[in-house]
Amino acid sequence: MSAEETRPSAQSGAHGEAPDYDGIVEHDNHLPRWWLMTLFGAIIFSVGYWLYYHKLEGRPQRAELEADEKALVEARDKAIASRVNDESLLAARADAAAMGRGQDLYKTTCAACHGEKGEGKIGPNLTDASWIHGGKPSQIFMTVTRGVPEKGMVAWGPSLGAAKVQDVVVYLLSIKNTQVVGKAPEGTPEP
Ligand code: HEC
Repeated sequence: MSAEETRPSAQSGAHGEAPDYDGIVEHDNHLPRWWLMTLFGAIIFSVGYWLYYHKLEGRPQRAELEADEKALVEARDKAIASRVNDESLLAARADAAAMGRGQDLYKTTCAACHGEKGEGKIGPNLTDASWIHGGKPSQIFMTVTRGVPEKGMVAWGPSLGAAKVQDVVVYLLSIKNTQVVGKAPEGTPEP
């Protein structure tokens, strides 16, 4: 047997047969129909998806998400508000540990904007009798929870949680009406 004969041939057979490489035969079959259907189907689907969700706003997901989030926040606020009230907050002032935690939290988290003693800085004076968002304990609680984002007051509820917000409000109730000289009163005077 000559070397010529054992050398692999990569050529098609004379009658258009599949090429043979070292005895491995390559068939040039057509792709199965089902396979092509999934490929073209996915391409067509992706164009439709892109148009519907990203271009035509068929279902504005962002608006949907925002509405859901708003509903969630409202539901949570409601749940908290149903537990916390003026009486429970005023009563919590007797809890020295809560008062201490609230004071610490105030110093680390709030003093930068409301002053070391609550006399006001960027944020309003918290020791006067005037309140922009209401001076009742439950109103103060809600202001701290929700914040006033458009005015630069952070919504502390999500980051601190209701328990810590309650602590800091208890502390605020202890400095309320102590009239520390500082930022001029803002809002409505309350008795
Ligand atoms: C980045 C600055 C900043 C920080 C930090 C901040 N506040 Fe404020 N806060 C403000 C501003 C500004 C306002 C005024 C909002 C307005 O004009 O409606 C405000 C308003 C308030 C009010 C309402 C006062 C009123 O007259 O009704 C309360 C209560 C309050 N803050 C409590 C807190 C507490 C408690 C913390 C810490 C957990 C805190 N704030 C941290 C900037 C801040």
